[in-house]
Amino acid sequence: MNAIIYAFSGTGNTSRICSLYKQEFERNGVQTTIYPVRTDMDDLPDPSAFDLVGFAYPIHAFNAPSIMLDLAKKIKAVSRKEFFILKSSGEPLKVNNVSSLRFVGILEKKGYVLKSEYHYVMPYNMIFRHTDREAVRMWETAKALCPIEAREVLRGVEHKLPHVCFGRLIAWLLRIEQIAMRINGRFFRVKADKCILCRKCEKACPAKNIRIGEDGRFAFGKNCIMCARCSFHCPTDAFKIGILNGWRVNGAYPLESASASAPEPKHRHGWYCKRAYARYYSKAKEKIANDR
Ligand SMILES: Cc1cc2nc3c(=O)[nH]c(=O)nc-3n(C[C@H](O)[C@H](O)[C@H](O)COP(=O)(O)O)c2cc1C
Repeated sequence: MNAIIYAFSGTGNTSRICSLYKQEFERNGVQTTIYPVRTDMDDLPDPSAFDLVGFAYPIHAFNAPSIMLDLAKKIKAVSRKEFFILKSSGEPLKVNNVSSLRFVGILEKKGYVLKSEYHYVMPYNMIFRHTDREAVRMWETAKALCPIEAREVLRGVEHKLPHVCFGRLIAWLLRIEQIAMRINGRFFRVKADKCILCRKCEKACPAKNIRIGEDGRFAFGKNCIMCARCSFHCPTDAFKIGILNGWRVNGAYPLESASASAPEPKHRHGWYCKRAYARYYSKAKEKIANDR
């Protein structure tokens, strides 16, 4: 048996989830390929060559990122093929569940049938920075949950996420983000006094939207998908990301080194978030305990 996961990850969270699935699939004898989704998809593998097909992405404005919609449009039509979805997001909001509606709609027209979808809360790469302690807790939770849910996928368990009232409308309205981000991308700036010209951002941009001239000048094209890879991984935090600059989060979280039991430092987000996260953790804890 073999599997493929077509995965897009802006800053690494979704990739981490996919790695956990790959590990568990392979522990169960399923050879697994993770195909990293980019804007140039000339080498797109044929899903018919795989017994299990999955798609993974981070939630962007309650939707699948535009690059995943492009993938769904480009992927080969099939006569009937079940698939699963893995998604990651910074908050455990129910409205995040509607993010796959359009993506699934495109695939269904091409003969694909949604069997299961799973959602993991991972540290925010935009809006606000989680504390290291919270980030570690999210990652530890994902590490415990993913193997259980990967085995569900292998067993062919049906797992659908409940949709909220007006969810379709909310997702539809927020699709404006995809156009807005292309425009916003043109207003990215790099602070010359901070930039060390390491060119990491230029090499890593999945939309090939960043060009750095011989003279060190940056040019930003119109293809930004707002994945935040450039600004998040900038070693000197030199980016300004247009109108979203106030929501910029810079620097990888120390997921493997900080302790989830370290004292909780003060943070900006309030009671609402805490309650939503508490629900997410308690459901996860229950599932993990039931698996033992
Ligand atoms: C442009 C943008 C929009 C986002 N929108 C949402 C959202 O609607 N809901 C949410 O919970 N998280 C949102 N996030 C946070 C990411 O989904 C989250 O940090 C995710 O784990 C990032 O995964 P990645 O590292 O694989 O890109 C957004 C992030 C970005 C960059």
